[in-house]
Amino acid sequence: MGQKRFEKQQKQWEQEVEKATSRFPERKDAFTTSSDIPVDRLYLPEDPDEHYVENLGFPGQYPYTRGIQPTMYRSRFWTMRQYAGFGSAKETNKRFRYLLEQGQTGLSVAFDLPTQIGYDSDDPMAEGEVGKVGVAIDSLKDMEDLFDAIPLDKVSTSMTINAPASVLLAMYIAVGEKQGVSKEKLTGTIQNDILKEYIARGTYIFPPKPSMRLITNIFEYCQQHVPKFNTISISGYHIREAGSTAVQEVAFTLANGMAYVDAALESGLKVDQFAPRLAFFFNAHNNFFEEIAKFRAARRIWAKMMKEHYGAENPKSWKLRFHTQTGGSTLTAQQPDNNIVRVTLQALAAVLGGTQSLHTNSRDEALALPTEESARIALRTQQIIAHESGVADTVDPLGGSYYIEELTDQIEKEVEAYIEKIKELGGAVQAIEEGYMQREIHQSAYEAQKRIESKEDIVVGMNEFQIDEELNAELLRVDEKLEHDQKKNVQNVRNTRDESKVNDTLSRLRNAAKDEKENLMPHILDAVKAYATVGEICNVLRDEFGEYTGM
Ligand code: 3HC
Repeated sequence: MGQKRFEKQQKQWEQEVEKATSRFPERKDAFTTSSDIPVDRLYLPEDPDEHYVENLGFPGQYPYTRGIQPTMYRSRFWTMRQYAGFGSAKETNKRFRYLLEQGQTGLSVAFDLPTQIGYDSDDPMAEGEVGKVGVAIDSLKDMEDLFDAIPLDKVSTSMTINAPASVLLAMYIAVGEKQGVSKEKLTGTIQNDILKEYIARGTYIFPPKPSMRLITNIFEYCQQHVPKFNTISISGYHIREAGSTAVQEVAFTLANGMAYVDAALESGLKVDQFAPRLAFFFNAHNNFFEEIAKFRAARRIWAKMMKEHYGAENPKSWKLRFHTQTGGSTLTAQQPDNNIVRVTLQALAAVLGGTQSLHTNSRDEALALPTEESARIALRTQQIIAHESGVADTVDPLGGSYYIEELTDQIEKEVEAYIEKIKELGGAVQAIEEGYMQREIHQSAYEAQKRIESKEDIVVGMNEFQIDEELNAELLRVDEKLEHDQKKNVQNVRNTRDESKVNDTLSRLRNAAKDEKENLMPHILDAVKAYATVGEICNVLRDEFGEYTGM
């Protein structure tokens, strides 16, 4: 029975390969090792058993354990998408263009904290934070500067923005229109994942209910008007950075994913209308084989959940597509160059785990935002893995390894146990409100820290193999003058815009916010086009929704 099913799967896979390579031909006519040994597209068991047929199958085929594309990186490398942003929109635009010139293949915007929590640069709450951990965006003018000379029909852009995601997405659409790029053509991702902000990252503004409304408004709006845009990046990265284990990272992320699917269904959307544009974002941490198995388990769990639990019928709804960032919390301030090795191993794990997009951290990021040189080395790390190591020349090269498959199964089991527990608590939102996920993460973080302090876990250069060192690395400093200049910029926008138009769009937004049935995206789009600022729009929503003071 297994053999028959296997042969049927193989036939289907071969047809999918045909289809995929018509859009993305394989990178080479033939792949070989340095000794001219041919490298096959995929390696398969001689005598596939039931377990193989049921749980592994073929790449690009349900349940996608071996990857979501039939030919994976033989056709197209993962997107090299370095997270970048600091200071003014003009400065960040320069860094974007530098990274694109150096071969980066996707953009990823880091916003400063005031933008992330909906304050303008001249708001007292923004004092001292303007342009610090990301780029300061107050109005559409800044967004135009941010993407100056970057054609939005030629690049996909990720925006790490959550509570005010609708505002920044609206600005991106407006910039596209100004460039003559219709919203139907825009590609990219908006992080738009508020639950992990409550759990770990902290840049929330509104209470859960209105936050979920804004999120599902984006699902609905994009499904109708921005069909190529990924409407959420359900993130495990920050959960891991807060100290979770690999199992908790996957479990809490997928549980959050279920909460978003439930909210979208409750808002009246059909699962296959929005699920194909859900995306994920995971951490690549230090334990090499566990990380690879973690990604493979996550794909299988999500595929089964979408097909069997939610009844999704479109295979695109079953595919867990994800971005990976190497683990920021593993970087040491000591001997910063050692971080290049850590990042290389973590990036390699992400690639062997089948990531669709990758950010590699820079060696100096335990100390400051990366210098141009450090950011270049981080990008070169990906390019060396892609072009020199050979690991991208065959699909899922570790598939079938006794250790990897056992670890994948084990992780799958433990994740499913956590998801059951969260279901018993009433789902992710309730589990978060009850503090369950936070307690589990804090306990793991505490135990990990104890292992480091007792030297059970060695961190090279930090608790073993130390040297006397001066911190003489050249670090990136954000010019203190920036805050002053940015304040002037936003005041200038306010003084030159059509104030009556702004007030009119803001009052229409306010009225729409009062009616839960209304999708707020069109109103927010009108407001940003009138050059209403992030702070002004968020203040209207604060008035209507209230602010959340924390779980
Ligand atoms: N064969 C056939 N088709 C292929 C293929 C192959 N081998 N490889 C890719 N493709 C196709 C894809 O199907 C897709 O086409 P489609 O849109 O028509 O389906 C197209 O080529 C592009 O490929 P991907 O969608 O796989 O790659 P992208 O890079 O465009 O998207 C993603 C990847 C994960 C789906 C997307 O959500 C993404 O880019 N995410 C990035 C998120 C991000 O960068 N986050 C940064 C957060 S920073 C942060 O939060 C940390 C801070 O707080 C510290």
